[in-house]
Amino acid sequence: MFSVDLTGKVTLVTGAGRGIGQAIAQGLARSGARVAVNDIDATSAAAVAASLGDTARAYPADVADPDAVVQMIAQIHDEMGGPDMVVNNAGIEYKTPILETPVSEWQRTLDVNLSASFYTSQAAGLIMRDAGGGVIVNIASIAGHNIPLPNRASYVASKAGLIGFTKECAREFAAFNIRVNAICPGVIETEMTTASRSNPAQIEKWLADIPQGRLGKPEDVVGLVLYLCSDGALYLTGQAINVDGGKVML
Ligand SMILES: NC(=O)c1ccc[n+]([C@@H]2O[C@H](COP(=O)([O-])OP(=O)(O)OC[C@H]3O[C@@H](n4cnc5c(N)ncnc54)[C@H](O)[C@@H]3O)[C@@H](O)[C@H]2O)c1
Repeated sequence: MFSVDLTGKVTLVTGAGRGIGQAIAQGLARSGARVAVNDIDATSAAAVAASLGDTARAYPADVADPDAVVQMIAQIHDEMGGPDMVVNNAGIEYKTPILETPVSEWQRTLDVNLSASFYTSQAAGLIMRDAGGGVIVNIASIAGHNIPLPNRASYVASKAGLIGFTKECAREFAAFNIRVNAICPGVIETEMTTASRSNPAQIEKWLADIPQGRLGKPEDVVGLVLYLCSDGALYLTGQAINVDGGKVML
């Protein structure tokens, strides 16, 4: 399994109670990082942290709540040090046509998928600036690249916004030696895609568009996160990199 040396680095992973976030937390722990495991679901955050060993701790919080984020990052700083790295992974998706989308659903999607990254980047960015550097990785989506994703306007808007925020954040934070990049996964086998994956016609349609001929697994996203967190990526910032079996080539 791919790993890098992140010994001693304190890393916050949001939405790490399952799926891609859990796999990222496992990869970081395998690479020697001490992982702050966030999730809105306190039980799954605690279970993942416990599975990673003594150096990981659970920090349950709703990352869409700016005050909760500030408090969580202050608590991580006090209890673990850092954070040296933040992986903004928490995300939600609704499948609703625009004409039927309640404002609350639109707002919640933007709050969790986009605004939360601003909240963590600001709170952790202050600490990283004072510490002389850091790394932020935003888990966006190929949905942010203008590919068709019917009935998911709020999700598409949030991920396109996250790619835009990533670039601007990278520009501002470069002066503080903080690198900021986004990863854009394609279709990954997690609970988020369970409903769509139960439809064989949908799977066939997806596969027809994926040169590597398979859907992704959570572990497929991990290697790039580790690389972006490592010193191998010291000259890499402001990028949105697809991990999608070749589905989207820009
Ligand atoms: N699965 C895919 O095909 C796919 C593709 C592209 C991008 N992504 C992105 O990858 C990320 C992870 O997706 P996944 O497939 O693992 O999803 P998932 O639904 O399996 O897991 C998401 C996790 O985030 C947590 N979460 C949700 N809202 C939260 C909040 N407000 N605060 C804290 N935690 C919260 C959930 O409790 C859950 O544990 C998301 O940002 C998603 O948009 C997924």
